[in-house]
Order: sequence, then structure tokens, then C-alpha cells
Amino acid sequence: MAIRHFLTLKDLSTAELHQVIELAMEMKAAKRENRQEPIFAGKVLGMIFEKSSTRTRVSFEAGMAQLGGDALFLSPNDTQLGRGEPVEDSARVISRMVDIVMIRTFDHSTVETFAQYSKVPVINALTDDYHPCQLLADIQTFTEHRGSVQGKTVAWIGDGNNMCNSWINAAMQFDFKLHIACPAGYEPSAELVAQAGDHVMVTNNPVIAATGADLVTTDVFASMGQEDEQQERLEKFAGFQVNHKLMSHAADNALFMHCLPAHREEEVSTELLEDETISVVWDEAENRLHAQKALMVFLLKNSH
Ligand code: CP
Ligand code: NVA
Repeated sequence: MAIRHFLTLKDLSTAELHQVIELAMEMKAAKRENRQEPIFAGKVLGMIFEKSSTRTRVSFEAGMAQLGGDALFLSPNDTQLGRGEPVEDSARVISRMVDIVMIRTFDHSTVETFAQYSKVPVINALTDDYHPCQLLADIQTFTEHRGSVQGKTVAWIGDGNNMCNSWINAAMQFDFKLHIACPAGYEPSAELVAQAGDHVMVTNNPVIAATGADLVTTDVFASMGQEDEQQERLEKFAGFQVNHKLMSHAADNALFMHCLPAHREEEVSTELLEDETISVVWDEAENRLHAQKALMVFLLKNSH
């Protein structure tokens, strides 16, 4: 019995990731042309959310509905998970009743434990450490606008957080250079950076990271679960805003991306976020839908 999970980008080979992104683009066209088939008829996705979400919930739920399947929204407030039923037990029970599961939670070990006990594919829909679904959409978006990301340079400006870690994995899997600029003390894990070798460069200077980049990307200074640090982080991240001035150091046709939700005038200027000649954040958000539909097709097809 081989069940395929998607807990980080490393759970798929490079060839498989390319396959998913190509399928996402095909499924996007099929939806636009009104020729989607109900390929998930009778299938149920269990969605466990221990943190808030707009894009992830809507894209998974709409994606299942569009393909003839169903999605169950499971929150800790009204399931036994929130009352301390062990993850191991929840995984064994839920995975006997649904066909695929997605989980948004705090500790990455929760999705690993769930996957270990699950009879069906498990998708990481964001943990404190990784957000791989967002990267599928981001690579799809870059590819649609600028072609292959291989050999390009991406600049990550801001916190060395779950999104940054997934960009590091993406740099290895899709073979591009990632220049990371974080304030001192907010760099991503040294172990992950070391694994990435020449694919990743870390600096405390946003201009150095942005120089020559084909894509500049950022995220909130304080992630979900770090609300108490918001004020301290605003001070520590001064000078790390992505705006037109910083973009002027990037390549001529550089794009801007943000996984959203954005905090205008904090990590990104309103002017840049709204400049649709550079900012592709709305395409990026839409592509969550297409990329995750393709991911679910892949995982269900390859799990036996
Ligand atoms: N980018 C992202 O995951 O958004 P949500 O938190 O709204 O799902
Ligand atoms: N780093 C952010 C991403 C939100 C989609 C968070 O974890 O809150």
C-alpha cells in the first residue's frame, strides 16, 4: 500500500512537480472553456483547519465542488480534535471515511503524524514550517507570466518563515537561485539553508537580495500564531518593505508576488501591490484553485 502525501515540496520529485503544474494549467483552461468533467464524483475531501484561512479554504472547497466531489470543513471548535483526541486516532478514523485530507495547523509534526496513520493522501495546507500548496500556485504563476523559473533569480524579502522555507525547497526542486534578505535573528533555519547549497544566498540587506531578481516576493512580518510579536516585528523589520524603490534594483521585467493576506504599508507598499504591471498577486491567489485541483488528481491517481 503506497499512499502519496504532500507535506513539503520534497514529497514529489522534480518531474512530478512539473507534471502537477502542467496539469494545473490544463485544468485552468478547461475551467475557462467550461469543459471540466466530474472526475471527483463520490470523493470527499476532509479539511482540518486549526488556523484561519480565506484562499486555502475557498480554493479547496470550490475545487472539489467544481469536479463533482464534496469537502468537509472540520474545525477544532466542533470536532474532538479540539478536545484532545489524539492525532493518531483522528487520522485513523477520518481517513476511513474520506478519500483525501488537507490540514492547516501549527506544528509540522502534526501533519507528519496524521499522514503516518492515514489510509488516504494528506496535504499540508500550511504549518508553522511550510506552505507547499502556495508554492505550486506561485511557480505556476511565474511560469504563465515569464516561462520556466529554472535558472532565474527569486528574491525573498522579510521573515524566514513557512513561506520562505517552502521557497528554499522550491529553489532546490525547480533549480533557481533564491536570494533571501531577513533582519538579523529572523533568518530561516541554517540546516535548511545548508541543504540548499548554491541555490540559496542569505543576507540582511534587501537591496543585495533584490538586485537583478526576476521575481521579488514577501509575506507578513508576523505570521499566524505570532500576533503578540507584531509590534516588536514592525520595529525589527523596518527597511524590509517591498516597494517600487526596492523593485528598481530588480531585473527590468521583474514580477512581484505575495501569498496574501497583505498588510499594506508594512511588508509591501499599497502602490506596488496595486501596480498590476508588476504585481501578479491576484493571479497567484486564483492559481491556488487550479494547482490544488491538479495536486489532488495526482495524489489520488498515484496512491494505491
Ligand atoms: N495564502 C493563503 O494561504 O491564504 P489563506 O490564509 O487565506 O488561506
Ligand atoms: N506566513 C503566513 C502565511 C499566511 C498564508 C502565516 O503563516 O500566517
